[in-house]
Amino acid sequence: MKINFIDLKAQYQEYKQEIDSEVLEVFTNAQFIGGEKLNTLEKNLATYIGSKYAIGCSSGTDALLLSLMALGIGSGDEVITTPFTFIATAEVIAFLGAKTVFVDIEEDSYNIDPKKIEDVITDKTKLIMPVSLYGQCADMDAINEIASKYDIPVIEDACQSFGATYKDKKSCNLSTIGCTSFFPSKPLGAYGDGGAIFTNDDELAIKIRMLLNHGQNERYKHKYIGINGRLDAVQAAILNVKLKYFDNEVKTRDEIGSRYSELLKDSDVITPKIAEFNSSVFAQYSIRVKDRETMIEKLSLKEIPTAVHYPVPLHLQEAFENLGYKKGDFPISEEVSTQIMSLPMSPYLKQEEQDFIVQAIKGN
Ligand SMILES: Cc1ncc(COP(=O)(O)O)c(C=O)c1O
Repeated sequence: MKINFIDLKAQYQEYKQEIDSEVLEVFTNAQFIGGEKLNTLEKNLATYIGSKYAIGCSSGTDALLLSLMALGIGSGDEVITTPFTFIATAEVIAFLGAKTVFVDIEEDSYNIDPKKIEDVITDKTKLIMPVSLYGQCADMDAINEIASKYDIPVIEDACQSFGATYKDKKSCNLSTIGCTSFFPSKPLGAYGDGGAIFTNDDELAIKIRMLLNHGQNERYKHKYIGINGRLDAVQAAILNVKLKYFDNEVKTRDEIGSRYSELLKDSDVITPKIAEFNSSVFAQYSIRVKDRETMIEKLSLKEIPTAVHYPVPLHLQEAFENLGYKKGDFPISEEVSTQIMSLPMSPYLKQEEQDFIVQAIKGN
């Protein structure tokens, strides 16, 4: 049985006619940057999330970078985040010359532990940046409460959680700014790189729009030093089609994720724990196993693809050596990173494939 880790080919076949026609329209009209496709997408994204503004941009990484730039984060500032995430989260902090201050994760959600945040707040702390990992939101109320006590903004790195809900509110609309990624394998994926920034703040929205277009307020008048961080019209056209069907896909993802957990509940593996106030989009369906290498090998013998998100926490990465952290500083992140592994997951995973995967996990 040939199982895909994520089945993007099946998804394309499902929406092919509409996607092809939308993309051809962009080619025919030759409006490749900005224009009606992007405007429509931004309107649709804002409606979907319930935020005042949605701003398309070139990637999730650039969404984070632009948001930090808009908040004026730079040299001498400290930004609090989790070491158990994709490198982009902390990369943008370092890129702007600010200092990353890590806080360990919760054992259950794998997201930043709000109870440990206050311990590291100093007068240099300028931002808290939780990550909603694997498609489940961080405990945003608890984080926002701390942030408002110290008058610090919060950016939700929602690159894996577009479509998830927290206490009936949508991820991306839970803090000062929400940032997501449309990398092809994300729950809402483009056919190339893409991302979006969400906010309800008028001034931030205006500034972010300028920053992603070289800091221009009008053509060749540059108010800020910015970047080229635009989302192109082809990606916007594709995302417009996929967004129409996204709620269905989220529902199917939830059914598949819940079915994995049900089928694996009497096994030795630890399945994801979704808080009762959260719904996850299962960007990854990640389990914890004692002996990960043996499990990966066992599954690969049956041609079941797996992945590890993430094998080395950021505080132990060579690139962050200068921060001076050492092994043992964030024990939960360190332990989880040795045990975590992701199973095939997409709305197109068939029941018989899922049964085969579960059998393989439980078998000898
Ligand atoms: C948690 C997290 N943050 C940031 C990013 C960066 O997004 P992109 O790949 O679109 O730049 C990703 C994507 O992999 C991510 O998973």
